[in-house]
Amino acid sequence: SRPVRIAPSILAADFTKLGAEVEAVDKAGADYIHVDIMDGHFVPNISFGPVVLNAIRARTEKTLDVHLMIAPVDRYIADFADAGADIITVHAEAGPHLHRSIQAVRAHGKKAGVSINPATPVSVLEHVIDDVDLILIMSVNPGFGGQSFIPAALDKLRQARQLIGNRPIDLEVDGGISADNAREVADAGANVFVAGSSIFKGNDPDTYASRIEQIRTNATS
Ligand code: DX5
Ligand code: ZN
Repeated sequence: SRPVRIAPSILAADFTKLGAEVEAVDKAGADYIHVDIMDGHFVPNISFGPVVLNAIRARTEKTLDVHLMIAPVDRYIADFADAGADIITVHAEAGPHLHRSIQAVRAHGKKAGVSINPATPVSVLEHVIDDVDLILIMSVNPGFGGQSFIPAALDKLRQARQLIGNRPIDLEVDGGISADNAREVADAGANVFVAGSSIFKGNDPDTYASRIEQIRTNATS
């Protein structure tokens, strides 16, 4: 059976104590740490860049799952690889040469992910499926944390799971994920669960372990 991975999104952390927040979700049982990179062009918001990723890298040995919401993206792949990413996910919509971007990620020795927005069909992944380590189905329009889950993502998860077949590819879902819908996205085929606000809400480190565990329990049952 597919391993369930919980990936807290650091976008919802308290940035005035970023190091402590990273250490807190690491200790609380995060499998991956999800890092959202927004360029103010591909998405209507700006987050942070490789310098901050490198600071996060210094505080955890967990898998750093870097979600690049950047267009064009290729010129930045080396910077995020060097800054300590383990998985680098690019958007299929970020440019005309998705295959080239995937090859660039792998040329740096990193795991390659491809993400698709809510309006993009799963079929765009058909001809790159043998070249990827992770597929990320967006269940909100990327750009902001705290948005509501878009139910049409469930069908896309099922389609992506079918496309993956027996390949050892992670199927990740991102946007509006909480303990309340973990079960249905797991049933649809997701095995990596990104969660920002549902884990970090209130920014009280004492709450992180139980929130992560609740998502894991519901996703597993
Ligand atoms: C949205 C980001 C998400 C975001 C998720 O553009 O890609 O990773 O941080 O936040 P929540 O879990 O609050 O929807
Ligand atoms: Zn993300």
